[in-house]
Amino acid sequence: MTTNNVLKMRSATKDDSNWLQEIMEKEWGGLPLVIRGKKYYPHSLEGIIAENDKGIAGFLFYEIQNHDCEIIVFEVFDKFKGAGTLMLDKLKETAKNKNCKRIYLMTTNDNLDAFRFYQRRGFNICGIHIDSVKVSRKIKPTIGMVGDHGIPVRDEIDLEFLL
Ligand SMILES: CC(C)(COP(=O)(O)OP(=O)(O)OC[C@H]1O[C@@H](n2cnc3c(N)ncnc32)[C@H](O)[C@@H]1OP(=O)(O)O)[C@@H](O)C(=O)NCCC(=O)NCCS
Repeated sequence: MTTNNVLKMRSATKDDSNWLQEIMEKEWGGLPLVIRGKKYYPHSLEGIIAENDKGIAGFLFYEIQNHDCEIIVFEVFDKFKGAGTLMLDKLKETAKNKNCKRIYLMTTNDNLDAFRFYQRRGFNICGIHIDSVKVSRKIKPTIGMVGDHGIPVRDEIDLEFLL
């Protein structure tokens, strides 16, 4: 794997709202993001933004509650070149500094790339919610029926990393 050695990371600010809104509309079915029936708006969360000489390279928004750090949305534009690993390492450091004991996230059953990414970086599956996407889809009808690799989007699966 080649790591992107020109990658710079910074905290998200209000100035990130515009491009973020555009990406949410274009690639995430608009806002809010919905995780097991709960609505999230990334621009009101804490976030890590990665930039390189071409501009924004990736974003990771998270929420900390009761020593738990939940990844709400995480995307790298030029994938599989090491940026995601650097960003996740930054989050691990940030969460530890904020006294978190755990990082966790939900992804859907079709996201095989994410299962590979997280499990190879120390995350374990800690919850499976069978057919729960239909609850989220009631709140957000733009959640697709068919996801990555042509797999029906159906279940919400939790992964955790103990700090
Ligand atoms: C998941 C994601 C954030 C990871 O970022 P990334 O920059 O692509 O990740 P890295 O380059 O640091 O790591 C690559 C790893 O991805 C995994 N991977 C999954 N599918 C892969 C593929 N087709 N080719 C290469 N690596 C792949 C591997 O585990 C690889 O690590 P390895 O070299 O140790 O095997 C990014 O792929 C992404 O934006 N995915 C779409 C959105 C998403 O699913 N977000 C996560 C859910 S919250």
